Formats: sequence, structure tokens, C-alpha cells
Amino acid sequence: MRIPLIAGNWKMYKTVAETVQFIDELKGLLAGAGDGVEVVLCPPYTALSAAAEALRGSGIFLSAQNMYWEEQGAFTGEISPLMLREIGCKYVILGHSERRQYFGETDEAVNKKAKAALKHGLIPIVCVGETLEEREAGITEKVISTQVKGALTGLDPAQTAGLVVAYEPVWAIGTGRTASDDDAQKVNAFIRGLLAEIAGREAAEKVRIQYGGSVKPENAAGLMAKPDIDGALVGGASLKPDSFAGIIKASR
Ligand code: 13P
Repeated sequence: MRIPLIAGNWKMYKTVAETVQFIDELKGLLAGAGDGVEVVLCPPYTALSAAAEALRGSGIFLSAQNMYWEEQGAFTGEISPLMLREIGCKYVILGHSERRQYFGETDEAVNKKAKAALKHGLIPIVCVGETLEEREAGITEKVISTQVKGALTGLDPAQTAGLVVAYEPVWAIGTGRTASDDDAQKVNAFIRGLLAEIAGREAAEKVRIQYGGSVKPENAAGLMAKPDIDGALVGGASLKPDSFAGIIKASR
């Protein structure tokens, strides 16, 4: 039984004050309504500490949006897994398409980060997804396969079983265009098949595979009803407490 994971990826939005206000409002809106769903917030680094404090006792978990793979060193501007653990993160998003597109993140880097995260007890949320061009060229499965295999090289089945994978078609991110329930299910099932190839069926059945890309309160229930969609990675609609709470309630 996989518990759905609803994560709000805030990207480069919200100051510390806005973060604390959001969390206060969300707690009021949920008040137990998040039962049966695991809820995670992914604020910017600068707000993680205040978020950890504001979330104390709420049952909502914290995630970072990225990290570097080394524990410490001369890597100006980077944040290490140790620092994220210390601050109270349970998860870390790795390989988001915006990191791949704007910051040159490769499958090899995602793999190094995934190994470092696991070594330090952080659960990676590994993002994969095809661009519109790739979908139209009919190579979605090839792209996803390269990304999944690249990210998970060298992990053992127990490590793979503990992962979260987020399928985020790039053409659906921030565009208002959601993949249809059936299209998202098809790719998520394909990803589970890949995971079974890599780590065995038993491990693959444990992995939570999210969908991300223009998820809203109105389309969440249909997506979550699909057998291989185990939650959502939400961007825009996670920035307002009422729409994020709406998605959580629709996912129970
Ligand atoms: P939107 O929900 O804004 O489309 O963003 C999805 C996303 O990139 C989450 O990581």
C-alpha cells in the first residue's frame, strides 16, 4: 500500500515571512484533513529553517529543492546533504527539469546527488520528464528510460524501493496543460516497469511515483485515482494555501 505523497515545490517564491504565513493558514485549512496522504513542502533554502519551526507538530514534512553531493568544501553557493538534514529536511528534489534546463544538471549529477542524499538519510524525489519536442518525436519512453536509468545507476534494490520518482512532462509545467489521466498513468506505469527491470518487481511496487505539471484541485482526484500515480509534485497551485489544501483533500 503506497501512501500518496503531495509535495508543494515553491521554486523561487516566498520570503520567510510569506512562508510562515502560508504554513499557519495551511494548518488551519487541513486540521486532520491530510490523513491518508503525506504532505511535504519544498520552500527555498532561505525559508527552510523558519518552515521547520512553523511545521513542528503538524505532521507535514520538509523538502529542499536541490543540493550538492559533497558533504562540505570549496563549492561556493552550494548546500550539502548534512546541512539539509540538520535543518530538518526529510526529502530533497533532484533533477527537476528547471535545474536540467537552466543549470545544466545531467543524469550523472542527479545520480551522484541521489547517492549522497541516501547516504545521509534524505529521500530523493527524482524528477524525470520529456519536452514537447521529444513527445512529438515519439521518443518519450526513450527519454524517460535514459533519465531513470541514469539517475539510479549503482543503487541497490532496497535504496531504490525507498525513492520517490516524479514524472513531470516539461510541456505541462506551468503551462496549464496537464497530461490526461490516462497519459500520465501510461508513463508512470512505464516508469514502474523500468524500476522493476533495475531493482526487481518487489522494490518497484514500493516506489511512489508522482505526477507533476499543472496539477490543480480540479484535476487532482482524476490523476490520483490511477493505479500508478502515487501523489503529485505541485508548483503554481502549491503557492496558495486554499488550492494546495484542495489538492491534498482531493488526493485522500
Ligand atoms: P506547475 O504545477 O506550476 O505546473 O509546476 C510543476 C512543477 O514543476 C513542480 O515541480
